[in-house]
Amino acid sequence: MFKLLSFSLLLSTATAFCPLNSALSGSRPKCFAFYNYPLTFDQADTFCYNLGGRLASITDAFESATISSQVRADSPTVNAFWIGARSVDNRTYTWADGTPFTYQRWASGEPRYPCGVVQLSSSSWLTEQCPTMLPFACALDPSGTNPPCESGWSWRQPEAACYKIIRNFDTFDSAENGCKSIGAHLASIHTSSENDWIYDQGTANYKLGVTEHDLQTWIGLKRDCQSCQWYWTDGSALNYTQWTKDEPADDYSNQNCVEIYTDDATGLGSSNVRNWNNVKCDNAKRNAICKKPQNR
Ligand SMILES: *[C@@H]1O[C@H](CO)[C@@H](O)[C@H](O)[C@H]1NC(C)=O
Ligand SMILES: *[C@@H]1O[C@H](CO)[C@@H](O)[C@H](O)[C@H]1NC(C)=O
Repeated sequence: MFKLLSFSLLLSTATAFCPLNSALSGSRPKCFAFYNYPLTFDQADTFCYNLGGRLASITDAFESATISSQVRADSPTVNAFWIGARSVDNRTYTWADGTPFTYQRWASGEPRYPCGVVQLSSSSWLTEQCPTMLPFACALDPSGTNPPCESGWSWRQPEAACYKIIRNFDTFDSAENGCKSIGAHLASIHTSSENDWIYDQGTANYKLGVTEHDLQTWIGLKRDCQSCQWYWTDGSALNYTQWTKDEPADDYSNQNCVEIYTDDATGLGSSNVRNWNNVKCDNAKRNAICKKPQNR
C-alpha cells in the first residue's frame, strides 16, 4: 500500500519512477538498486553500466540512509558492498558516474585502497582492493530498465536466474506448487558453483540465528516411481549430480524426491552438507528453493 501510494505520488510530482526493487533518492533523480551477487569492483560497475547506470554515488546523508535501508531490506546478512568511489592515489576519490565528490563519510583510518565500500554496521565508508568480490549498489536513472530479479529474489549471473528460499516446511509437491505459483520451479542445479551457492542460500537461517532442526532444502529433482529416471521439475537436462556417499538409496520405498543437506545440526557432519539425499516426497519440515529465469 505504502509503495503504491509513493509510486503514484512520484508519478504525479516528478514523472519519474524507479525500476522494481530500487529506491528513489530524495535529493536527485537517481534510483538505488542493490545486487546481492559478489563481483569485483570493475565487474560490478560494468553490470550497473549494462543496466543504464554506474556503481552508486552518494551525495548526502539522506541518500546514505536510503541505500542502507534498501540493502538491509533486501539482504539482512550483508554488511559491506561496493559503491562507485574510486581513486588512483588512494587519497582523492571520484564517483564512477561523474558526480562531484563533495560528500564523504570515511571511517577513521580510511581511505587506504583504491575502491570504496559501505560498511553498514558503522554506517561509514571503507576502502578495499578492487579485485575483492562484494555485493554492490548501482545508481540507475529513473524509468530505466528493470533489474534481473524482483525484490526478495537473489540473482546469479552465470545461470541468468533468480532464486528464492521458501521456509514453510512443506512436502515436495506442495513446495513445487508454491514455486509454480510465483512463476518458478524448485531449483535445478547444473554446476558445483551453483550447488555451493544454493547451499549458502539454504543455510541463511542459521546465519540469522534460527535454530530449528532438520531444515534440509528441497531441490527440483524427483522420479515418478522407484525404478523411474530422475528428472528436474523445470525440464532442464540432468547433467550434474551431488549425491551423498551411498545415495541415492532405497532404504525405504518411494524415496522419490531429493533434498540438499543444508542443516548439519542433526549430526550429519560437515562432509555431508551440500550433498543430496533422496527421501519420501511427503516428508515435511523442509525449506524449498525456487528458481526462475531472470527478467529481460
Ligand atoms: C594504492 O593502493 C594500491 C593497493 O594497495 C596499490 O597497489 C597502489 O600502488 C597504491 N597507489 C598509490 C599511488 O599509492
Ligand atoms: C549442464 O548444462 C548447463 C546448460 O547447458 C551448463 O551451463 C552446465 O555447465 C552443464 N554442467 C556440467 C557439469 O556440464
